[in-house]
Amino acid sequence: MEPLEPDVFTKQTKELTAADKQKLEEQNKRGFVPEFKANKLEIDAQRNWDIFYKRNETRFFKDRHWTTREFQELLDQESSDDKRTLFEVGCGVGNLVFPLLEEQTSEEGCFTKGRFYFYACDFSPRAVDFVRSNPLYDSSQITAFQCDITTQQVHEHIPPSSLDVCTLIFVLSAIHPQKFLDVVQNLWKLLKPGGLVLFRDYGLYDMAQLRFKPGNKIADNLYVRQDGTRSYFFSEEEVSQLFQENGFDIITNAYVHRRTLNLKEGVDVPRIFLQGKFRKKNL
Ligand SMILES: C[S@@+](CC[C@H](N)C(=O)[O-])C[C@H]1O[C@@H](n2cnc3c(N)ncnc32)[C@H](O)[C@@H]1O
Repeated sequence: MEPLEPDVFTKQTKELTAADKQKLEEQNKRGFVPEFKANKLEIDAQRNWDIFYKRNETRFFKDRHWTTREFQELLDQESSDDKRTLFEVGCGVGNLVFPLLEEQTSEEGCFTKGRFYFYACDFSPRAVDFVRSNPLYDSSQITAFQCDITTQQVHEHIPPSSLDVCTLIFVLSAIHPQKFLDVVQNLWKLLKPGGLVLFRDYGLYDMAQLRFKPGNKIADNLYVRQDGTRSYFFSEEEVSQLFQENGFDIITNAYVHRRTLNLKEGVDVPRIFLQGKFRKKNL
């Protein structure tokens, strides 16, 4: 995918064309996914992600080399000699963590210069196994563990008020909206006062949302894919509200409109993400 033009950052929700509106209306034609099926998707959420990694192994997601461009906080050097701590939630097979780890290991002397100690968790045991068997995995620099971030399990692995940064990259969208609050409250407990959440996920009316066919809609802006994994599409307002009401200041939060060229198919692919930085309040 080649970027066609610079990303546009905006608070403005995408204006729907007549064709977009029609696609969204079509999605309602067969109503919402029946309740028993929606409940089963929630019960089977871990299993479905684990099967996803059984099928795709490490091939599906690309390394996320853009993170230091979008989140300068990942580069900032602290003056203290203490290593900062970063927790990657829903790490998958480590596409965010390993490029960062590799970068910091290749920089001379950075070990004493306070870059990061990494924690990484995922719902899927198989994904965590892939992280642990990566040649870059080194327990003096990273701990990966299996956990459901909507439960209290995470507190068995990370001490309270100990983290400098939490990354939530295309993870909250995989979680049922009724559990967003549990996730945010967990991150709040784990972060130091002043600690940051770095967020990037699907934005409202992204092309991936408009592409869903009738029969796949579970609730407003929540859909199920063929493989049983789910995806939610976020408005700027709801994410700001979620963090603001739960002890965070919003530093930035905006839609990213990105136009890329799919070289293989020669088509222009407009994407909409939501990207934000939220700071735990100093109480
Ligand atoms: C779309 S993938 C993104 C993976 C990775 N963050 C990336 O950007 O490459 C969503 C990930 O969230 C994980 N996940 C879903 N629900 C979770 C939960 N309740 N707790 C922890 N991880 C979860 C899935 O197993 C999956 O690896």
